[in-house]
Amino acid sequence: MTKGREVNGRYSYQATLAAAQKVNWQIEDIIGGDKRLDFSKPFMPESLARVEGMDFLNADEKRTLNQIRGNAYLSIFGLVEEFILPFVMDHARPQLQGDDYRVRALLQFASEEAKHIHLFKRFREEFERGFDQACAVIGPPEAIAKEVLGHDPLAVALTILHIEWMTQRHYLDSVKDDRQLDPQFKSLLKHHWMEEAQHAKLDTLMVEALAEGRSQEEIEKAVGEYIEIGGFLDGGLKQQMEFDLDAFERATGRKLTASEREKFVEVQTQANRWTYLGTGMTHPNFLATLEQLQPSARERVEQIAPVFC
Ligand SMILES: [Fe+2]
Ligand SMILES: [Fe+2]
Repeated sequence: MTKGREVNGRYSYQATLAAAQKVNWQIEDIIGGDKRLDFSKPFMPESLARVEGMDFLNADEKRTLNQIRGNAYLSIFGLVEEFILPFVMDHARPQLQGDDYRVRALLQFASEEAKHIHLFKRFREEFERGFDQACAVIGPPEAIAKEVLGHDPLAVALTILHIEWMTQRHYLDSVKDDRQLDPQFKSLLKHHWMEEAQHAKLDTLMVEALAEGRSQEEIEKAVGEYIEIGGFLDGGLKQQMEFDLDAFERATGRKLTASEREKFVEVQTQANRWTYLGTGMTHPNFLATLEQLQPSARERVEQIAPVFC
């Protein structure tokens, strides 16, 4: 079997591999040399940063918080890609003979994630060079990977599918953003989006392969584990929000009052939830895959999604 057959009628390994090979950018195209972060501009689309509604902050403070959120974004994507990489390799490994397009498409996927990990690290180096204060981030990546990868592979594949579709949405939001985002950060979101478009398709195929032959009870249990992983990540995001608050106060020299702090926590907890959980859980293509697995799985996720929006 060497043909990249249409696996689910929509996506095929052959077409995905061909698309990936066309995209294939280099890190140097995006950051380094004269491509520097411009700290006079925001990094994150407002739909994700949600700083504008915090009317007790002035324009400089809003931009600083936006940039701190940008740094956390780089770190959180680094974290999640560190569990995606071994997972995709483990999924490819048992079937290295057989469908040549499948093997090549999955190895290309893994190689791109390794490149993305590198890309996010390069951006963080640039951030550290240009930002006055050290910004704490959650981790370490190995501990988070160990926790996530300890779950049922179908639950992990659903988590990864959620992340791939979420990345699609992040770039589209940055395009819609009418403010002047830093060009390098925007380019990061764009180039990531270009490769993640293939990953989302391959991940759909991974989910379908892992669900094959499972009983309804087993699928229900795996969806429950996907929700558990979401809960675990939500705990990490809460911690990250506290780190961001601390970095904000140090970077701006502003000590928030109790009521300002309360508002900050409320708005930014929800902003983080939307960025990393809501955007994936409510993505129509993610929901379509859930529905295909089990209509009640879609309903279950739709029921809890408003908490993360
Ligand atoms: Fe990626
Ligand atoms: Fe990806």
